[in-house]
Amino acid sequence: METQLNQKEQFDFLPLMGTDYVEFYVGNAKQAAHFYRTAFGFQALAYAGPETGVKDKVSYVVRQNKLTLVLTTPLRENNEIANHISKHGDGVKTLALMVDDATNAWEETTKRGARSCLKPIHLKDTDGEVVLSGIHTYGDTVHVFVERKNYNGAFMPGFRKWKNEYFSPKETGLLYVDHCVGNVGWNQMNPWVKFYEDVMGFKNILSFDDNDISTEYSALMSKVMSNGNGFVKFPINEPALGKKKSQVEEYLEFYNGEGVQHVAMATNDIVHTVKELRSRGVEFLQVPSSYYDDLLERVGKIDEDLAPLKELGILVDRDNEGYLLQLFTKPVEDRPTLFFEIIQRKGAKSFGKGNFKALFEAIERSQAERGNL
Ligand code: FE2
Repeated sequence: METQLNQKEQFDFLPLMGTDYVEFYVGNAKQAAHFYRTAFGFQALAYAGPETGVKDKVSYVVRQNKLTLVLTTPLRENNEIANHISKHGDGVKTLALMVDDATNAWEETTKRGARSCLKPIHLKDTDGEVVLSGIHTYGDTVHVFVERKNYNGAFMPGFRKWKNEYFSPKETGLLYVDHCVGNVGWNQMNPWVKFYEDVMGFKNILSFDDNDISTEYSALMSKVMSNGNGFVKFPINEPALGKKKSQVEEYLEFYNGEGVQHVAMATNDIVHTVKELRSRGVEFLQVPSSYYDDLLERVGKIDEDLAPLKELGILVDRDNEGYLLQLFTKPVEDRPTLFFEIIQRKGAKSFGKGNFKALFEAIERSQAERGNL
């Protein structure tokens, strides 16, 4: 009986194989695609637009290893995409999740209270079939479940392979989505934690309160939600009271609501990756060089030389299982909203708690420059 109960408890009603793609709604997808190819080393994959029978929008798909980005722009006014951009600026619309059965994923989540944004649909072309379904999450963000086991094409029906005369700069070593962080409003962290627990079967694996994540001026709280196999991790942040405005508040103000704060992309060689990204114009948050003075005393022995880490501004943190190296870009649009994290894990499964203070002081310096602290 006990075994049966345990099996029932451990049964994952929403098995996820990872992040399928991240879709951004942007003002100019052609230029955004150029940016992600040139600056981040993504490669051209697929295209949809008027030439492929899509009349009201254009999407470019770029890929690097297991990271797939979809950049979508509207061709007309007064539609869901145009309104999203008008309200939020460029930002993440869809965190798409890879599943074996998109119909089942939709049924399991909607019967537990998820609000549907897309009933299961079967898309077919000569390369096979993709099944999609979707549910709403925080703000105007959605999760799309993608079942592509019967598909052999470049991306999905409706898209054609995108060949471009432009010779893409080579990849920068980015491998897959490590985690995606959502910013939610005051007192909204726990309701969204409950949403991921109840509706998607996730577990809260780590929590940070405002004592962990605060500086002299501003604070935030965060809970990390993970699916059963750990392939999908969604930390959820909410602002906390401080002497001045929290970075989450600044985000909420300029994004006009809740949304994705950052996407963390994994690499196996952060020194190489960050060197490449910097040389291609990607801008990173800068911690004071004093951060490195006592780094090795804080984190112990690491495989990397200190000099390149210091030169490139790469941060290090250790937990019980190992250590991690990480670095955060500045926002990648003019609104102080979405940014990226580059992360290399060497055993550590945490999120760099030891770096929070140094980082948030760096963010506060940027906020102050913008007059938003
Ligand atoms: Fe992160």
